[in-house]
Amino acid sequence: MTIPTEIGGPAGTGGPAGAVRRPLRELTGLTPLAATTACPDPQHVFGRLRAEHGPVAPVELEPGVHAWLVMGYPEILTVTRQEQLYSCDPSDWSAQHDGSLPADSLLRPMMSPYDNAFFVNGERHRRLRAPIAGGMAEIDQRAMRRAVAALCTDVIGSFAGRGEADLVADYAAIVPVLAVADRFGLDAVESHELQAGLAAMFAWGADAVAARERVMKILADVLAARRAVPSDDLTTYFAEHPNLRDDAEIYDTMVLVLVAANENTMSCIAQTLRLMLTDERFAGRLRGGRLGVDDAIDEVLWRDPPMTNAPARYALRDTELAGQPVRRGDALILGLTAANADPRIHAGGEPWREVGNRAHLSWGAGPHACPAQIPARLIIRTAVETVLHLLPGVRLAVPPEKLESVPSPWGRTPDSIPVRFVPVARQQPGTD
Ligand code: HEM
Repeated sequence: MTIPTEIGGPAGTGGPAGAVRRPLRELTGLTPLAATTACPDPQHVFGRLRAEHGPVAPVELEPGVHAWLVMGYPEILTVTRQEQLYSCDPSDWSAQHDGSLPADSLLRPMMSPYDNAFFVNGERHRRLRAPIAGGMAEIDQRAMRRAVAALCTDVIGSFAGRGEADLVADYAAIVPVLAVADRFGLDAVESHELQAGLAAMFAWGADAVAARERVMKILADVLAARRAVPSDDLTTYFAEHPNLRDDAEIYDTMVLVLVAANENTMSCIAQTLRLMLTDERFAGRLRGGRLGVDDAIDEVLWRDPPMTNAPARYALRDTELAGQPVRRGDALILGLTAANADPRIHAGGEPWREVGNRAHLSWGAGPHACPAQIPARLIIRTAVETVLHLLPGVRLAVPPEKLESVPSPWGRTPDSIPVRFVPVARQQPGTD
């Protein structure tokens, strides 16, 4: 496999020769982005889009709302590395100003401006990201592994006696927030309250506003407690970091970490469990085979990463990308799953078959690449290992083809993973 190292791709790599290139707003009849996630084989859809348009294809996010889907590996590097040309700030998206984005658009949560590291550029981004990256680097991995194993054991204990569970709702959806809450210095009760509050917030139901208030109170209480008595946790680290200038910036940073950790880690735990329970190469491992949990995580990150399509970048000037006429204000979606399988970097063969190959783009790239790759893998690995260890004979309760994804243009998180196992008595947290 040849991994491109240059910024940008080979000039003029876009599309079939002679294809007419027209600005986004003039195009009609575009493929909905959701067609790339709501299907058994996303690569089939990406292949069709590539054949028609090249590595950058126009797609429809919602009726009348268009964007470029960047499916090429070198093109993703260009878009994520060239901040002076491609902004992370949704205020730079023309749809925010020209009336084409409906007030109730489902795109708003992911494509509206917020004041945190994820959505800002340049100096401001460096200032807000440094405490996050620094806090992640400070993590004592052995201590975190022990803490995550203990909380996973506790969560499994809540359903182990039943002999059946949904490994998404009962487990993968809960563990990531508990793991981050533990790093914030919250105890088990507060962590579960935080998890429930965030779940209610993002269900956007009638109690979402009250749930947000509960979440903010938990964060305010732990911040006040660490100001009074510092500890070696992430809350203390943020409270003492000179880059975070007031409480609002500390809360925004804590919420960003929780939100960024939650959905992605949940999806990766669920996909890895699904793979290990359905694929013979990994099922073999459960009986002493060759491939292990880390190999399964790598395969998931190559083939079905949490963000099939990551929002977004916004063009700051008229430019050209893989031959497509990108106009100032256009949105560009990072087609991470597509780029991981870019035929120009895989001369045949499947990269995940090469054990240990981690050159995929599923953590993003450039200055906004995920700052939590090490703790994220640690949480995923520990969560998966603990299930396999504590639930003897765990197996799917439905045929694999019955497993479905949560409908979303951004990802393919399994909706549920019903399993059965031999019922076991509750273990003490931390025992193994
Ligand atoms: C499998 C798990 C995860 C995956 C695949 C993942 C992937 C990503 C990706 C692709 C981005 C960059 C998005 C972009 O460039 O627009 C990102 C950013 C980020 N991730 Fe993760 N992530 C994961 C877990 C986590 C966890 C556990 C945390 C926190 C503990 C975290 C915190 C963040 C933060 C704070 C950012 C924003 C960084 C910035 O804008 O500078 N992520 N992640």
